[in-house]
Amino acid sequence: MKRAIYPGSFDPVTFGHIDMIERSAKIVDELVVAVLNNSAKNPLFSVKERVSMLEEITKHLPNVKITFFDGLLIDYARKIDAAIIIRGLRAITDFEYELQLAQTNRIVDSQVDTIFLTTSLEYAYLSSTIVKEVASYGGDISHFVPEQLMERIYQKYAEVRNRTDAKHDCNGSEQ
Ligand code: PNS
Repeated sequence: MKRAIYPGSFDPVTFGHIDMIERSAKIVDELVVAVLNNSAKNPLFSVKERVSMLEEITKHLPNVKITFFDGLLIDYARKIDAAIIIRGLRAITDFEYELQLAQTNRIVDSQVDTIFLTTSLEYAYLSSTIVKEVASYGGDISHFVPEQLMERIYQKYAEVRNRTDAKHDCNGSEQ
């Protein structure tokens, strides 16, 4: 059985990720979408929330499984017996980092290969960072994420705003 891992932060998941998942799922027998559980990256969404979003938007794909991992990707790939790592390339600017990542992983374990898919042109500009930037100002994110996830993203920023407001008194100083 050909099992591949598609790792990422998915903070939050975008149409670009979904495009990658749908196309990868057609190539392999089983696709494990693995969310990096790394608090050092200070994610907006908890790992549980990111897993839940991914589960929701991949319901229609029977050979896609959603998990999370800590530590090194290559160790997790070995643990779940995935011989392929899938990554997306949007533009040439992605290439340097991705090449370094793929080569490092291959030096550690030559049995695990990285396959790159070029992102569909309509999502070549898109990133989770862009989604967060637009959503943080209450802008329209309907071009970037599925409708069923929009509310969760706006809601998250409402929570962040409430927390920030609660930390300040009426003079704007921290309490
Ligand atoms: O969606 P992202 O943030 O571009 O995904 C990056 C990810 C999760 C694939 C990468 O940061 C990663 O593999 N992190 C786990 C630690 C690791 O294995 N690093 C590479 C070896 S230096």
